[in-house]
Amino acid sequence: MCGIVGYVGPQSALDVVVAGLKRLEYRGYDSAGVTVLADGGLAAAKRAGKLVNLEKALAEQPLPTGSTGIGHTRWATHGGPTDANAHPHLDNAGRVAVVHNGIIENFAALRAELAERGHELASETDTEVVAHLLAEEFSSCADLAEAMRLVCRRLEGAFTLVAVHADEPDVVVGARRNSPLVVGIGEGEAFLASDVAAFIAHTRSAIELGQDQVVELRRDGATVTGFDGRPADVRSYHVDWDASAAEKGGYDYFMLKEIAEQPKAVADTLLGRIDAAGSLRLDELRIPPRVLRELDKVVIVACGTAFHAGLIAKYAIEHWTRIPCEVELASEFRYRDPILDPQTLVIAVSQSGETMDTLMALRHAREQGSHVLAICNTNGSTIPRESDAVLYTHAGPEVAVASTKAFLTQLVACYLVALYLGQVRGTKWGDEIQDVIKDLSSISGAVERVLKTMEPVRELARSLADKNTVLFLGRHVGYPVALEGALKLKELAYMHAEGFAAGELKHGPIALIEEDLPVVVVVPSPRGRSVLHDKIVSNIQEIRARGARTIVIAEEGDEAVVPYADHLVRIPVTPTLLQPLVAAVPMQVFACELATARGNDVDQPRNLAKSVTVE
Ligand code: AGP
Ligand code: GLU
Repeated sequence: MCGIVGYVGPQSALDVVVAGLKRLEYRGYDSAGVTVLADGGLAAAKRAGKLVNLEKALAEQPLPTGSTGIGHTRWATHGGPTDANAHPHLDNAGRVAVVHNGIIENFAALRAELAERGHELASETDTEVVAHLLAEEFSSCADLAEAMRLVCRRLEGAFTLVAVHADEPDVVVGARRNSPLVVGIGEGEAFLASDVAAFIAHTRSAIELGQDQVVELRRDGATVTGFDGRPADVRSYHVDWDASAAEKGGYDYFMLKEIAEQPKAVADTLLGRIDAAGSLRLDELRIPPRVLRELDKVVIVACGTAFHAGLIAKYAIEHWTRIPCEVELASEFRYRDPILDPQTLVIAVSQSGETMDTLMALRHAREQGSHVLAICNTNGSTIPRESDAVLYTHAGPEVAVASTKAFLTQLVACYLVALYLGQVRGTKWGDEIQDVIKDLSSISGAVERVLKTMEPVRELARSLADKNTVLFLGRHVGYPVALEGALKLKELAYMHAEGFAAGELKHGPIALIEEDLPVVVVVPSPRGRSVLHDKIVSNIQEIRARGARTIVIAEEGDEAVVPYADHLVRIPVTPTLLQPLVAAVPMQVFACELATARGNDVDQPRNLAKSVTVE
């Protein structure tokens, strides 16, 4: 959600900033703008719509060359996506420019106050007040970083702000509270951005900015202070992926590339976490085994796809550890006054590590004294930094808005936590846990096999491009997989898609079934919990009898489903609890292909942002 880039150095700031914004496009936005410092003043351009519109405007009316600049891709919250509302916003004298991610909650009061002092505001955004406040403060202190600190102390809400002032031509100042911002340090140049993808082509040396901190960026480095002006401790880190990891690598879409990367992502997430004796080693958990043994409840908080991973984790955690586990939408969590205490382990699952709803949920949990474990894909992001411990998923950068490889690796991480808790607490499932750890070690090969057999699924998806509705059914862990299949189709194909627990069908949703309605059914393994299998086979017959076109995802060798499947998708044999790792893949491929057939942009679906940094 929103992309920010700032640059100071020997290169053309405009080129660096626009290239950086392009790398952040995946985050989702609806307008874009840039400002460069040149010839003693500021030159700006901004346009509604995609970056191509801005580039066209820049080609028609080039900006002067400068070596300091800032840019922004906006995901509108206050005021429509128009040229006037696009960032950067300038003060009335045109000497200061600011870009912003987040929401300034007290902007209306500040706006009224500024109007009284004679300021004229030109946009509907909450952001513009900051440009005017910065100009006022700068006029008395003549120091942009100090002006930023003074302004930030007056702001309420969540924000990242990046600003430049014409009177400080070699300085870019950034500030953050709750929203993401990272610093990149190169040779004689420095960068600020919403994430490292924006500057990874220039440097892999980064600095994390903490909560309520201001950074003053110059060619020779960065100075970080708190909003109160005190010097802040900074953590530098080396970015362990390179620019090519964020390129499409020959695929038409990032999503296709990321689907294909899943076997590796799954294997990487397991790497080093299972020892030669087949036991789990999660040294990074940092929560002492004594605390883990005393837990009496696990609560998982997450949003969207990560929430679905959490729903699946519940089955695994309760089965292998016998600890009650609740899964809650992070956006609902703190508002219902949940019962939490030091015996509760709260697991926050997030690909980006910046989802505001999840961040707020984890803060609430920590305030109640609970231990918080983050499962996260983004090193240096806010959620792991504010948690007691973190288990990183090693999916690599996920660029497509629709989560795929991050989902599979979140599942792996959840299984690891569940198995580890079982191992530490020594439940009666010890033998089963050992077997599952072995199965998990070879699961990436199973994901690979699924990917090799996806052509019929693509063909089927194309043939359904003109449908209006697709339903998804599952039982047990297949139920959250059905929810995930429906979410993928909604967000990519903009179709009505819903996931149901197959057993719930007769309590209402079966009324939706009509002639030729596509229904995707995830079938549990016939082995082990075969009662589940038999029940879903009956459910398939029930919907088929009412005209549904059944698309059945079933294990290799499951012959019982064959007579009732209009389309049969085979997945490898896996233990029931691990089945989502293979069953989710055909659904991702299905949604991606169907959306492409409908002419949609699968990497940047309409209205969506990759990282949702507002509540
Ligand atoms: C997934 O396809 C979505 N775009 C979305 O639901 C996502 O999973 C959700 O916003 C949570 O994001 P996070 O994992 O970065 O916290
Ligand atoms: N609230 C600001 C606006 O609507 C910033 C939005 C963003 O994060 O892009 O302009």
